[in-house]
Amino acid sequence: MNWLLMLFISLLAVITILGSSSNTLRSLASSPPLPDIYTNYRKLREKAVADFSEIRSLSVGIVNPKELDLCGKESENFVPCYNVSANLQAGLQYGEEFDRHCELSRIGERCLARPPKDYKITLRWPAGKDVIWSGNVKITKDQFLSSGSMTKRLMLLEENQISFHSEDGAIVDGVKDYSRQIAEMIGLGSDMEFVQSGVRTVLDIGCGFGSFGAHLFSLKLMTVCIAAYEIFGSQVQLALERGLPAMIGSFVANQLPYPSLSYDIVHCAQCGISWHKKDGASLIEVDRVLKPGGYFVLTSPVTKSRGGGVNSKARNSLTFIEEFTKRICWSLLSQQEETFVWQKTAEISCYASRKPGDVPPLCKGEQDKQSYYQPLTSCISGTNSKRWVSIQSRPRWPTNYQLTPSDLKVHGVDADDYVEDSNYWKSAVKNYWSLLTPLIFSDHPKRPGDEDPLPPFNMVRNVMDMNAHYGGFNDALLEAGKSVWVMNVVPVRTSNSLPLILDRGFAGVLHDWCEPFPTYPRTYDMLHARGLLSHLVHNEGCNILDLFLEMDRILRPEGWVVICDKVQIIERARAITTQVRWDARMIELPSDNNQRLLVCQKPFLKK
Ligand SMILES: *[C@@H]1O[C@H](CO)[C@@H](O)[C@H](O)[C@H]1NC(C)=O
Repeated sequence: MNWLLMLFISLLAVITILGSSSNTLRSLASSPPLPDIYTNYRKLREKAVADFSEIRSLSVGIVNPKELDLCGKESENFVPCYNVSANLQAGLQYGEEFDRHCELSRIGERCLARPPKDYKITLRWPAGKDVIWSGNVKITKDQFLSSGSMTKRLMLLEENQISFHSEDGAIVDGVKDYSRQIAEMIGLGSDMEFVQSGVRTVLDIGCGFGSFGAHLFSLKLMTVCIAAYEIFGSQVQLALERGLPAMIGSFVANQLPYPSLSYDIVHCAQCGISWHKKDGASLIEVDRVLKPGGYFVLTSPVTKSRGGGVNSKARNSLTFIEEFTKRICWSLLSQQEETFVWQKTAEISCYASRKPGDVPPLCKGEQDKQSYYQPLTSCISGTNSKRWVSIQSRPRWPTNYQLTPSDLKVHGVDADDYVEDSNYWKSAVKNYWSLLTPLIFSDHPKRPGDEDPLPPFNMVRNVMDMNAHYGGFNDALLEAGKSVWVMNVVPVRTSNSLPLILDRGFAGVLHDWCEPFPTYPRTYDMLHARGLLSHLVHNEGCNILDLFLEMDRILRPEGWVVICDKVQIIERARAITTQVRWDARMIELPSDNNQRLLVCQKPFLKK
């Protein structure tokens, strides 16, 4: 009897303790400063209901928008603007037929890109870096069994998964040794010292399966992979599937869509470029995008042919590169086996020692022209730029992403404007993140007293800011500790802030949003567009439905869209979200009555 009584009392005690601690937990959970726009979803829901009746009354005059169907199976991996047969018919040749030519692509019927039959939602970062679903990418077994290059060998296939060696994988990871080798060739003790030595951004031309970039990422470097469009086994599609920065890009005829003086390292491991052709035009393009004091790393089987003898063609190509690089003020730092490291000069005076008539000459005249569909140049650019600062004498990452007043002066940006922008984003990110939950679309009342759980910090990985301005969204996401990377897109014909974004050590690109973006379907988790729609509607006159179809194409199933714009524009956009079959909610911003937020999620449609 006593014993039973004891048990009863202790049970009671346990219940009391548990109860009180859960109360404490609850009060703790609700005590941190809540987003200032709205405190919980209940309020939000009330707001949304009000919005809804408002929209209904507004859309009375609009013809009931029809939901679009999924396209056929052929659209599963469709990337517009890369139609080789159309390009050939138009007379393009010498590799230019593989280039991007939107003007030659006809606009097909309007439909939603269909996911492959075996498509599965990608694993969350960082697990998704090492394991992807094979049904999500277009690749055949033979393809990677036969793929021979160093950066391509690092994958194995298991049932329906492709796994890449993880950082602590038991199998010797060639990429780690390779990265250490490059660091040593630059004169560093190890690859841990890249950041200390002034390196932050890397342009990886033809990145294999992105493993080099994945390793550099762990060393706090930002590696952007570019590769030409490939129908099967695309390097860009694989890198993005793993959550690594990548885009389709090539410089056969045109410059890359980056300004001059953009990257700290340009890397090419058997990337398939004939550097000696066209009087070194490809090397001039590498020189253009390299920052002063930056490095060009080339790994290429130049010295030996397959049989072991000297490969004379490769030898000639190397001789050309060695001779040409001297003329453009690069110095060969080191050669080990098949890897070469050149350094671009940090001294403008180097060019002065060239004789008049030396080719290539320095570019004259306007230097900071936007490099969108600009033909490759045959002159050395960037030497007149205010941004000519060697990577060794700049502040190191992560100090350099907060711009100083003197940085802002170089970019012609008003300091107050910049600070205001930066503060805006800090609070906006807090608010956005709390909206990223299917709860905001749900009409089911929750249990009273329940606090709304915040989404996990790693629920999105590949983010695109479609109108990046100074990169403030990227900055705020970093500060908030989100495990994302951001493709900062600066639309053409807006104020050209891309050089500033790249100088902050972020990824960025110029783009014309009246055209498709050079990426594969289902490659981003979140698209963000502040002020983009009003810019496009007022200045560019492109079709917003086509823009939304393109956004739907590049968005992963269950991915998010956050649009902030003027009320009238958001109301129009809201109608289009019905056509593209997104869940959408319009949200008021108490801080600004003329603006609205449109939060959307793309559902995982199968038919
Ligand atoms: C590519 O171009 C050819 C020739 O103009 C055309 O027949 C074909 O339908 C195009 N393919 C796509 C996917 O647009």
